[in-house]
Amino acid sequence: MKNEQWGNRTGFILAAVGSAIGLGNIWRFPYVAYENGGGAFLIPYLFALLTAGIPILILEFGLGKKGGGSAPSTFRRLNKNWEWLGWWQVAISFVIITYYSVIISWAMSYTKFSFQLEWGNEPKEFLFVNYLHLTESVWSIGGLQTHILWPLLITWVFVFFTLYSGLRSGIERVTKFAMPLLIVLFLIITFRGLTLDGAIIGINHFFTPDWSKVWNYKTWMAAYGQIFFSLSIAYAIMITYASYLPKKSDVNNNAFITAFGNSGFELLAGITVFSILGFMALQSNVDINDLAAGGVGLAFVVFPTIINTLPALNQLFGVLFFGTLVLAGLTSAISILEVIVAAIRDKFNLQRRTAVIWVTIICASSSITYATGAGLYLLDIIDHFVNSYGVVLAGLVQVIIFGWFYRLKTIREENNSTSDFAIGPWWDIMIKYITPIMLLFITIQNLIGEFKAPYEGYPVSALVTFGAGSAILAVIIGLIFTSLKWRDPNQPEKKRGAS
Ligand code: PHE
Repeated sequence: MKNEQWGNRTGFILAAVGSAIGLGNIWRFPYVAYENGGGAFLIPYLFALLTAGIPILILEFGLGKKGGGSAPSTFRRLNKNWEWLGWWQVAISFVIITYYSVIISWAMSYTKFSFQLEWGNEPKEFLFVNYLHLTESVWSIGGLQTHILWPLLITWVFVFFTLYSGLRSGIERVTKFAMPLLIVLFLIITFRGLTLDGAIIGINHFFTPDWSKVWNYKTWMAAYGQIFFSLSIAYAIMITYASYLPKKSDVNNNAFITAFGNSGFELLAGITVFSILGFMALQSNVDINDLAAGGVGLAFVVFPTIINTLPALNQLFGVLFFGTLVLAGLTSAISILEVIVAAIRDKFNLQRRTAVIWVTIICASSSITYATGAGLYLLDIIDHFVNSYGVVLAGLVQVIIFGWFYRLKTIREENNSTSDFAIGPWWDIMIKYITPIMLLFITIQNLIGEFKAPYEGYPVSALVTFGAGSAILAVIIGLIFTSLKWRDPNQPEKKRGAS
């Protein structure tokens, strides 16, 4: 039943890059980098990429290929007591897909709005009042926003059919088409950005280093957070995707290609976004600092404002920009859902299609929570907690387990034996010492900061309920699923070596 494999190497790489390149690259990276010292941010960013990002990616690709199953079954196969780590990561992916799908559907709505520049002259008001119907506080949920449900439905139908069609005719086919298209479309945006008046002002601003930020732990936290989120590591995703690799596949080179592909795109997005901001600053005589809003504001307020003022082809530019966001988001969403599907299939011995139906129904109905008047608040809080604590902690546990309680060297040797090139003992040092020390330090600082000032000034009651609540919920879901019985008589221990 579970012997699906990628059609070829390109298929695997494009799927992995498709998962990595997402909303995180186009809209998260530019403002995170900017807020954390611009050019100076690149130092911690590259450090995190080389010492944690690539080593963990190599680890996950290696584990996936070795285990040949979903994350829970792979971990269990290596050690009976580690299944829960897999389920914890699967549960984190569950929490993330519920809101990630909603952001994609906002981008879908905005692609449509672009045709008529429907946001008018007040994009900010349009977003918060007319589109999101944002309530006064997290605690007032507001009504269900039916106009958001439509694009949300389209998102889910698309993801559903992709996974339902299988690995090769679904995921591989979609990413082989979507990724090249995404890159071509984005290059057009980049070209337009760079040729606008004032582009250089923006780029200068982006790269001008603020060295004082390099000594701030928050910058390091942001760099690690960005690398984990952007590379999709510690979400069980890369383990799952690599489990569909033939046994003789390369690991090391694939990891480098995926990581550099992702970071290259990220840098390109930074340059593009800032060249466009430079144009806006020149046009409206505003300082870039006042333009570069974070998060939702950048994509859904600043960009519409800029699109309004472009000299020509405004609508086309809008469609292109939001269209690429949708594309980038969809290929990531597919990967997140596949993690859950693979795990459920393995544990309950289900056919792909049955698992896809159930998992989609549950995730899609949970995502409706964010299509309410308080959706944006909930999304913001849950995203912060699940990514700062859930993922980073799951990553920390993963490197400690494999660095200290497993024969790490054997994983490296196994990877080397089938890879284009071999990696040396530096890898063991990263997994064993550097990454755990950095992650531990960051998490502790982060926790201290959390108690000092409530995140974004939200009421503490809401932060605890939704934020800490969802991070803890992921652990609980993980434990519950671990305790359930394996339905597949061959899973997971007996299958070792069988495939
Ligand atoms: N890596 C994706 C991005 O940059 C997002 C993602 C996060 C995908 C977590 C899967 C898991 O947007």
